[in-house]
Amino acid sequence: MARRALVAGNWKMNGTLGDLAEIEAIRDGLAPHGPEAVICPPATLVASAAEAARGSALAIGGQDCHAAAQGAHTGDIAAEMLADAGATHVILGHSERRAGHGETDAAVAAKVAAAQRAGLTAILCVGETSGEREAGQARAVVESQLSGSLPLGADAARLVVAYEPVWAIGSGATPSEGEIAEMHAALRAGLVARFGMGGAQVRLLYGGSVKPANAAAIFALDEVDGGLIGGASLRATDFLAILAAAR
Ligand code: PGA
Repeated sequence: MARRALVAGNWKMNGTLGDLAEIEAIRDGLAPHGPEAVICPPATLVASAAEAARGSALAIGGQDCHAAAQGAHTGDIAAEMLADAGATHVILGHSERRAGHGETDAAVAAKVAAAQRAGLTAILCVGETSGEREAGQARAVVESQLSGSLPLGADAARLVVAYEPVWAIGSGATPSEGEIAEMHAALRAGLVARFGMGGAQVRLLYGGSVKPANAAAIFALDEVDGGLIGGASLRATDFLAILAAAR
């Protein structure tokens, strides 16, 4: 069965109520039978974005969740709360959380389990730093992040994996097409080893400086099923152009 393309937008810590107009414009610009489209706004906008997207093909996601369902965790958000607010997806293990909040593979795995328990699809991010790439360790790092960030009992049907080289995020630099294809092949092999046939159906996204100008070439690569888009997801025109490249 062919995998349906998926393009997810990661708004990071950007956006206030006034920016819901961009989400409405994305909703209204989606092509019938196009790729699956997800916008992950900051937590403060999840409920209103989900309301705006209700009844449309646009899905809304969170950018992180706690591993627990509730409790004394000031400032944190449970996966169940995201689901209650109307989210269907959540980005987990983004390099900005791994680096800025000290999230280990084990912590990310617990969050993936929490997300799936709440019925959310986890968009699990992995990717090497420039130092790791220069040291020839990129593939080993990414393979070990993948296996370490998947919890026991993970559900392949509620999993998307995004390969995001840390050095390509927000930098304008991207790996070569060969480097992306090589890493996606390694991730696919890892998913099939872990899940068997189920692993062949997991969508593999590329993320890191995807723009309207380079999206089509990247999305055409083997085992690239779409993208995780940061900066270029903030404006509907750019995000819709990237979606069009994924068809
Ligand atoms: P970028 O971010 O598209 O701005 O490089 C991608 C990401 O961090 O998910």
